[in-house]
Amino acid sequence: MLTSLVLSAALLGLAHATLVDLNTTQSDGVTILETKTFETTLTPANKIVVGGGTAGLTIARRLAESSLKTSVLVLEAGGSGVGLNVVTIPEKSFSFVGTDIDWGFTIAPQEHAGEYEINLSSGKILGGDSAVNGLVWTRASKAEYDAFETLGSPGWNWDTLYAHMRKAEQLEYPSASLIDEYGYVVDASSLGESGPVSVSFPAYLPIQHKTLVEASVELGHTFNTDAYSGDNAGVYYSLSSQNTVPVRETSEFAYLTPWETHKQLTVFTYATVSKINLDDSSEPKATGVQVIFPDGSEYTASLKSGGEVILSAGVVRTPQLLELSGIGNSSILTPLGIDVKVELPGVGANYEDHTMALLTYQLKDGYLSFDALSYNETLLEEETELYSEGEGWLTFAQAVVNFEPIDVILTADEIEEAKEILSTKPESTPQDQFDILKELILNGTTQVEYLLFNSFSAGDDKESNTSYVSLSITHTHPLSRGSIHINSTSIDDFPVINPNMFEAEWDQWWLAKATAYGRKFFQTQAFQEIVVSEEVYPGSSVSTDDEWLEYVKENLNAGYHSAGTASLLPKESNGVVGANLTVYGTQNLRVVDLSILPMLISAHTQPAAYAIGELAATLITTGSTNC
Ligand SMILES: Cc1cc2nc3c(=O)[nH]c(=O)nc-3n(C[C@H](O)[C@H](O)[C@H](O)COP(=O)(O)OP(=O)(O)OC[C@H]3O[C@@H](n4cnc5c(N)ncnc54)[C@H](O)[C@@H]3O)c2cc1C
Ligand SMILES: *[C@@H]1O[C@H](CO)[C@@H](O)[C@H](O)[C@H]1NC(C)=O
Ligand SMILES: *[C@@H]1O[C@H](CO)[C@@H](O)[C@H](O)[C@H]1NC(C)=O
Ligand SMILES: *[C@@H]1O[C@H](CO)[C@@H](O)[C@H](O)[C@H]1NC(C)=O
Ligand SMILES: *[C@@H]1O[C@H](CO)[C@@H](O)[C@H](O)[C@H]1NC(C)=O
Ligand SMILES: *[C@@H]1O[C@H](CO)[C@@H](O)[C@H](O)[C@H]1NC(C)=O
Ligand SMILES: *[C@@H]1O[C@H](CO)[C@@H](O)[C@H](O)[C@H]1NC(C)=O
Ligand SMILES: *[C@@H]1O[C@H](CO)[C@@H](O)[C@H](O)[C@H]1NC(C)=O
Ligand SMILES: *[C@@H]1O[C@H](CO)[C@@H](O)[C@H](O)[C@H]1NC(C)=O
Repeated sequence: MLTSLVLSAALLGLAHATLVDLNTTQSDGVTILETKTFETTLTPANKIVVGGGTAGLTIARRLAESSLKTSVLVLEAGGSGVGLNVVTIPEKSFSFVGTDIDWGFTIAPQEHAGEYEINLSSGKILGGDSAVNGLVWTRASKAEYDAFETLGSPGWNWDTLYAHMRKAEQLEYPSASLIDEYGYVVDASSLGESGPVSVSFPAYLPIQHKTLVEASVELGHTFNTDAYSGDNAGVYYSLSSQNTVPVRETSEFAYLTPWETHKQLTVFTYATVSKINLDDSSEPKATGVQVIFPDGSEYTASLKSGGEVILSAGVVRTPQLLELSGIGNSSILTPLGIDVKVELPGVGANYEDHTMALLTYQLKDGYLSFDALSYNETLLEEETELYSEGEGWLTFAQAVVNFEPIDVILTADEIEEAKEILSTKPESTPQDQFDILKELILNGTTQVEYLLFNSFSAGDDKESNTSYVSLSITHTHPLSRGSIHINSTSIDDFPVINPNMFEAEWDQWWLAKATAYGRKFFQTQAFQEIVVSEEVYPGSSVSTDDEWLEYVKENLNAGYHSAGTASLLPKESNGVVGANLTVYGTQNLRVVDLSILPMLISAHTQPAAYAIGELAATLITTGSTNC
């Protein structure tokens, strides 16, 4: 295991912040001895950030460099991603699954779907999910962000979130030769130009992804030349969170390195927070947090007076930490013997994730996908060499997405059927969210995303020496709501993760229809040139409505865009935080991560996580959401 501590000048009084291995002696003679340094050298901080993930490092850096001159301590359970191929190489984006930087969460068997366990891998590393995700960089449509404000949170709308996404990002505009070769199109005026997070197009685009653009156009879908300004419908070239070197961009690389420039910032890695310490006032005040190191030693990190704790442990761990600290639904906490400090039943409720189905096709002879990297050693060697020059297959993770509203996918009769299904509110959907979502669904907001995985990603019959592609079909606005709750008092036990997928009839029906439509992409002239006509998975045995429904139920995947377990909503609507992100009923505890997103959007979620970190920093430093 990589063992290192990241300590800053503020901590040790050194001239520069340092990255030190445990048990090593620095040139200036300071020996860092395991975790003892934590206790003996750490002074109380103004802000303690729990979790050095996507949103956590964003807010930590912004606060540390702000005019508040505030000391910021970040406690992250994982280590640094610097120099790890599985993090830095775009093509390796999902290879972390099952490694020691994967938390290894699983979704409880879903009673309305296949009743099997579904992986919900997540990054246990500085950068969090930004260090392990699929690199896709997208925005939803204006109305979807405005819905947060409509649900009761002043200032949380398209204008502020768009401004803060732009504050995070820096477009690296494609070179003329890349535009010429692949046809990349992006409207630079819709993207940030000077933020820390580099976004760019890969130096290599597999022909099958270019084919997805052509197939979409052949199906009559719009080619969107400006998908980042609040209208995301159609097929388009999507940016990736990578620079043009190309190295994946993570919140660690974007906001933390180089360390020297952030003297107010202290980051401890391999530091797992097990509890937030709250005093006994009627409106409890956080005094610090409990931290556990890999050797089992436990310490208290304290707050300075007037300080605050910022919880950024992600959608699974944030509600767990709130509950372990006595904030939540007493019907859940009391039976576990936890002293209830704040009765707040919204903690862990309102949970959702995108749902996803897949179709697999075989490429014709002469066409190769990433599958070939594992059966053709010559190719792997060639591509590894090319990558060191910034070129070739390994620079690519994704570059084409297609978002569509229901009227592009459904027939007129089916739209009537959709209206019929939507005339009844599903049990788990809150009424106000249902009213908004129904309007978005019927008013042309996109509800499905199609994109291509450049490898065999679903099915039973993968043949050796063969290259495949899989189309992923994602339902972007599920109505079903579930929960994430603890069922033990130990930080080492994962909470029970239950998105309640497919509880709503709409969620089943729409994903089945959208998946059936997915087959049409492969029947276009464009795809027929490069794929074997016969579908590999699920194949011709699935074709009726009932068969598609059965197929999606038995082959359901998580979309890896979990949200909502500490929702930004009024308290009476099961909210956990108000517009300033302070947890209801507490004085100085905020949540700053994707847990606050009250409803999912028709987009991948990392830009929203960065925007939440940026906007929270604006709120804390200026007292308002305007930047
Ligand atoms: C496999 C995968 C693929 C994805 N693909 C994409 C994509 O292509 N595009 C996109 O836009 N989005 C994608 N997403 C989603 C996106 O990355 C996340 O929504 C977003 O990064 C979440 O940010 P966050 O700050 O809420 O949480 P995270 O970034 O997960 O941060 C939480 C941090 O807290 C730490 N932590 C947790 N518990 C503790 C504790 N007790 N003590 C100390 N530290 C703790 C974690 O280790 C982690 O670093 C993907 C996600 C995954 C998992
Ligand atoms: C530090 O050194 C001690 C003594 O050699 C050893 O027992 C311990 O495992 C080391 N710790 C780490 C994290 O390498
Ligand atoms: C689920 O995760 C385990 C390791 O945690 C891994 O071995 C397995 O391949 C994963 N399954 C899928 C479908 O990714
Ligand atoms: C609180 O927990 C109880 C027991 O699990 C449950 O019945 C109730 O619905 C929960 N309340 C909320 C708002 O989730
Ligand atoms: C393996 O890759 C090499 C190098 O790209 C290529 O020339 C060769 O045709 C490939 N072989 C197979 C069986 O795909
Ligand atoms: C939906 O369309 C109707 C009719 O055009 C319009 O009145 C309404 O404002 C629209 N709603 C949204 C959320 O755009
Ligand atoms: C796969 O191809 C390689 C090289 O082209 C060959 O050596 C090997 O026997 C093939 N394997 C199978 C199972 O066809
Ligand atoms: C808690 O949930 C986990 C994960 O779902 C499960 O494995 C475990 O058996 C549950 N424990 C209890 C005490 O219910
Ligand atoms: C957050 O907002 C609430 C409600 O407006 C207010 O009572 C509280 O003082 C605010 N907290 C902070 C830290 O600004």
